[in-house]
Amino acid sequence: MRGPMISLERLFRPRSVAVVGASKTPGKIGHAVLVNLVASGFRGAIYPINPKEEEIEGLKAYPRVTDVPGPVDVAVICVPAPAVNAVAEECGRAGVGYLVVITAGFKETGREGAEREKALAAICRQYGMRMVGPNCLGIMDTSTPMNATFSANFPFQGRIAFISQSGALCAAILDWSLKRGIGFSKFISVGNKADLTEADFIEDAAADPQSKVICLYLESVEEGARFVEACRRASRTTPILVIKSGTSQAGAQAASSHTGALAGSDLAYETAFRQAGVLRVHTMEELFDLAQAFVRQPAPPGNRVAIVTNSGGPGVLAADAIENSPLTMARFEKETIDRLRKSLPAAANVFNPVDVIGDAHWDRYDAALGAVLDDPGVDGVLVVLTPTATIEPDVVAEKIVEHHRRHPEKPVLAAFLGGASVEEATRYLLGNGIPCYPFPEPAVSALAGLLRYRELSTAPAAVEEWTFPDVDRAAVEEVFSYVRRDKRVVLLGSEAFRVAESYGIPCAPSYLATTPDAARRLAEHMGFPVVLKVASPQILHKTDVGGVKVGLATPEEVKRGFVDIMESVHQHLPDSVVYGVEVQKMMPPGRELIVGVTRDVQFGPLIMFGLGGVYVNLLKDVAFRLAHGLTREEAHAMIRQTRAYTLLRGFRGERPADIEALVDTIGRVAQLVRDFPEITEMDINPVFAYEKGLAALDVKITIR
Ligand code: ACO
Repeated sequence: MRGPMISLERLFRPRSVAVVGASKTPGKIGHAVLVNLVASGFRGAIYPINPKEEEIEGLKAYPRVTDVPGPVDVAVICVPAPAVNAVAEECGRAGVGYLVVITAGFKETGREGAEREKALAAICRQYGMRMVGPNCLGIMDTSTPMNATFSANFPFQGRIAFISQSGALCAAILDWSLKRGIGFSKFISVGNKADLTEADFIEDAAADPQSKVICLYLESVEEGARFVEACRRASRTTPILVIKSGTSQAGAQAASSHTGALAGSDLAYETAFRQAGVLRVHTMEELFDLAQAFVRQPAPPGNRVAIVTNSGGPGVLAADAIENSPLTMARFEKETIDRLRKSLPAAANVFNPVDVIGDAHWDRYDAALGAVLDDPGVDGVLVVLTPTATIEPDVVAEKIVEHHRRHPEKPVLAAFLGGASVEEATRYLLGNGIPCYPFPEPAVSALAGLLRYRELSTAPAAVEEWTFPDVDRAAVEEVFSYVRRDKRVVLLGSEAFRVAESYGIPCAPSYLATTPDAARRLAEHMGFPVVLKVASPQILHKTDVGGVKVGLATPEEVKRGFVDIMESVHQHLPDSVVYGVEVQKMMPPGRELIVGVTRDVQFGPLIMFGLGGVYVNLLKDVAFRLAHGLTREEAHAMIRQTRAYTLLRGFRGERPADIEALVDTIGRVAQLVRDFPEITEMDINPVFAYEKGLAALDVKITIR
């Protein structure tokens, strides 16, 4: 796993490929790879490497890569695992550019395999070779053309770059794609990703004019930050669709804070995909339904869709699906309605969805499509057809293609229901750039995907990192080193407040007192009333042990409060270490919010914002973002995403809260946890938001 942005041109368009472990024996992988390479029409030199053979498949064989007379751009390795590293070493000496290691028996098999994989990656680094795999199916490029895999199939040439973490899935999809007529530009099985990762292939595919859409099947991400960066850049020009299986560890590792408990196991990925501009889908079917639309159709200029149908039921289904998505049903101009009235029978519906009714021939579709596509209030069209006795699906298909040519800026998708009688028309549509689905719902979901991509690709490009120059790093370092010397990982409340304040997060004044008199002095200094809280890293639920007293208004109440707390805590938890009592200024009531942090192994710190207080876990009104790359706009967006936003804007006559101050606090917390990777968890709960400013009432920080 190295470096950003490299060109993989020579990997996908090599001048020569060596197959190490090429075999004469049908059924062996080394045989299949060689046969596939030849059969794919690869025009460069092919060198079978085998210590015992003179020739294989009519090609001269060489005992070792070092014996090959010309330069070798790519070596596909299919020798048994124990022989791989020696072969890689030879490839390095021979000046090979890329290795594609198909052999299994590496990291996926345990410790010994992991050691072998590490050594293999080191050999690659030593010789400056880049590697796909190990433990992969191989790679394909249909425009080169090159099939450097042991798959039984080579796909049609197309515009989808498919990157998969599962080799077996690759094989299955290839087989299925032939039946559905789906074409690919590239097909990449990434295997164990010991060197090249999905981020490299995403960057490469985005720069490849043959690839119009990138489809990813992921089980995990190798380098979270780089993945997000690569996707963010690539998705400006090339839509990225991802299907992700399995779960991450965010929830599991950090469940002791509210934030950790609210971060579900899949949350880090969900958040990363959103911030990276990646469209997530949940089924393989959806992946290819969307991919087809992206390959063939433009993103709609807006969200207003017209439906043209010859049957009521499917038309209503389509309209429902539209209303349940970010799309909306277009409202036609008067001129459009007049045109429709003139060309359709009286029983037809001239409003959206346009129903040309059951006895329609192709001419009604022709007229209706012409009218709705010309309407400036229509951003895209869905044509629904049911095979009635009168309709000519093939002619309708031709008309759809013609009309779309007149308005190439508006996406047109079709849902032709039925089977045998629409087969030919469906094929014609697909062959002529109109995605066609067997039901309205997948068509609507594809159209919604196009719209979502338009929003992503036209959103303002991320600016450089959002930072506050007025923070005091040294003060935070001092607190942390004291906590470490004290052999603790949980900060006392007063320490956590120091940390937060050092980063400009407004806090209710709070100090540690070790005697009743000290507590009184502090209270007098900050002004009454005050709150007292027991200070102990071992006591998480202070109220339960009588460790909190609020609204203390006189010096006597404070002194008595101190003594009462100490006694009560000692009674409940006689063995706990108590550092004293924290004296905190009692703040006027505000809107209760939470800002928190949890950490994900792949993607680093996640920031949470939402409705705070004691019902946090019950109401779960929260939004998450990655701290890395967080922008002011994203912080605003995460606030808007919650229902708490309604309260903040001013609910039922209340004055609005200081949202800018909140946005700042989110940004400052993000900077704090970026600057200090040792912070594993943080909860600021509650934060009181006021009309002007805010105050953190309780800050919890755990460090490593
Ligand atoms: N240099 C050149 N050729 C060599 C060398 C060498 N150093 N060592 C061995 N060979 C030759 C062998 O002589 C043999 O050729 P032959 O048939 O003429 O005798 C050929 O290389 C293959 O060696 P075999 O010992 O026959 O190995 P075999 O083909 O049985 O297995 C393989 C090798 C396929 C790499 C196996 O070890 C393996 O890893 N299989 C799993 C592959 C896999 O699943 N990968 C993941 C795919 S993703 C998915 O899930 C679908």
